[in-house]
Amino acid sequence: MKKNDEIELEIIDNGINLEGIARAENKVVFVPGAIEGEKVLAKIIKVNSSYCIGKIENIIERSPDRVEPFCSVYKRCGGCSGQHIRYKKQLDIKRELVKNTLAKQKVEYKALDSVIGMGIPLTYRNKAQYPVRKTIEGENKIGFYAKRSHEVIENEECLIQNEEIDKLSKEIFKLLLLKGFSGYNEQNGIGDIRHILIRRGYHTSETMVVIVVNNKELFEDVRMEEIVNILKDNDSIKTIVLNLNSSRTNEILGKEEKIIYGNGYITDFVGKYKYYISSKSFFQVNTVQAEVLYNELKKKLKLKKDDILFDLYSGVGSIGIFLSDSVKKVYGIEIEKQAVKMANMNLKINNVTNAEYIAGSVEDKIVEFEKRSIHPDVIVVDPPRKGLDLESIEYIIKFRPKKIGYVSCNPATFARDLKLLSQYYLVGTITPVDLFPNSEHVECVTVLTLKND
Ligand SMILES: C[S@@+](CC[C@H](N)C(=O)[O-])C[C@H]1O[C@@H](n2cnc3c(N)ncnc32)[C@H](O)[C@@H]1O
Repeated sequence: MKKNDEIELEIIDNGINLEGIARAENKVVFVPGAIEGEKVLAKIIKVNSSYCIGKIENIIERSPDRVEPFCSVYKRCGGCSGQHIRYKKQLDIKRELVKNTLAKQKVEYKALDSVIGMGIPLTYRNKAQYPVRKTIEGENKIGFYAKRSHEVIENEECLIQNEEIDKLSKEIFKLLLLKGFSGYNEQNGIGDIRHILIRRGYHTSETMVVIVVNNKELFEDVRMEEIVNILKDNDSIKTIVLNLNSSRTNEILGKEEKIIYGNGYITDFVGKYKYYISSKSFFQVNTVQAEVLYNELKKKLKLKKDDILFDLYSGVGSIGIFLSDSVKKVYGIEIEKQAVKMANMNLKINNVTNAEYIAGSVEDKIVEFEKRSIHPDVIVVDPPRKGLDLESIEYIIKFRPKKIGYVSCNPATFARDLKLLSQYYLVGTITPVDLFPNSEHVECVTVLTLKND
C-alpha cells in the first residue's frame, strides 16, 4: 500500500477518536468519518510502518447508523467527531471502546453497563473557550480550532454549546473589534485578544465572561470599562474577568487575572447542592449528566453514616459536597487554589459542616492525612486525563480504604489504574456516562472493594 492508492476497505471497528478502522495488507488503516460495518473506497493519504490513514472517496455500503451532521462546518471543525453517527450507535461505540481498553489491560471487573446517554444530546456545554485570531492577511476570526490544527473555523452556530453562550461569544467578539482590539496571531505573538471564555450556570443562567488578553496594559485600558458598561445591561452576565496570557504556549488561561465586573464567580446546581465556580476552577461541562454521574457514584458507594471519605482531585468540592450528608467527614485535596477557595465557600452556602478542603497536589498532601492519623473508609478519585500517579496509588493502597470510587474521563488511564489497584481490590460494575455527546469522549465510574486479606 502506498500513498495515493485507492482501495476498498471493510470497516471492522471504530477507534478512540471514533474513526473507522480497517485492515489491509497486514496493516491497520484508520479512516476518519467511516462507521463500523461500512464498505468504503478510500484514498491512502499517509503510510507509516505500522498503520495507514485513508480518506473516504466514496461510501460503497452505508451504515444504517449514518446520519446527516447537524453542523455546516462539522467536517473541518475539531470540536465534534461523532455527528455523522446516530446517537444510540455513538453510545454503543463508546461502550465497545471502554470494553476494549479494559481488555487490553486485562482488567477483571464485575460487569460493564451500557453507556448512559442524554435525552437530547445537544446544547449541553455550559462552558466554551473560543480562540480569537488575526490572520497574517489581517482578518480577525472567532470560532473553534480545526481538527489537528490551530486554524480557526468560524461557524454560524455551535449546537453543542448552550445557545446563549454561542450568541454572546459573537456579540463580545464584534464589540471588541468595534473598540479597536485585534485578535492574536500565534505565528508572531502579536495581537490583543487570545480567547473569549464563557461559562453559564445550567440551572441559574448566571454567566461569566473571561477575556484572555496578550498584554497586561489591557488590564487598565479604558475601552474594557466601556465594554463592561455595555455588557452589564445583559442581566445574566454576573461577572467579567480579564486574564493575562502572554506566553507562547497552547495554555488558554494565564496566571494573572483582574476582575472588572462582579465577584469573579457564578453559581450552578448539581442536584440540591449549589456551587460557586470561578474562571480557573474545574466544573463538569455537562451539568445534567454530571448529576447522573454523581448519583451513579453515590449508588455504587453505599456509604455509611460513620464513613470518613477522601475526595481527591476535588475541584470546587462538587463530589465531596454531593456525598457529604451520607458520611461522617469529607477531606478533599485539589491543586488549583482558586477551586479550593470556591470549595470552602461551597461548604458555607450548602451548610456543610463536615468537610475540609486542602490546596495542593494529591501526591504532596495525602501524606498529611497519615501524619494527622486520619484513616479513610472510602476514597473517591476523579483525576485529570493523565490518571493517578504511582505515588498516589501507593498511598491509596497503603491506606487500605474499604472502597475506592473511581471517576474517570479517560478510559486508557482508568484501565491502567484499575489494573494496578486490582492487586488488592475487586473492581465492581463499570458505568460509562456520556457527558460529551457527539464527541469521542466518555466518562466512567466504578467502585472497587477491598479484597479479603
Ligand atoms: C476531572 S477534575 C475533577 C474535579 C471534581 N472532582 C469535579 O467533579 O468537578 C480533576 C481536578 O483535579 C485537579 N488536579 C489536577 N492535578 C492534580 C493533582 N496532582 N493533585 C490534586 N488535584 C489535581 C484539577 O485542577 C481538577 O480540578
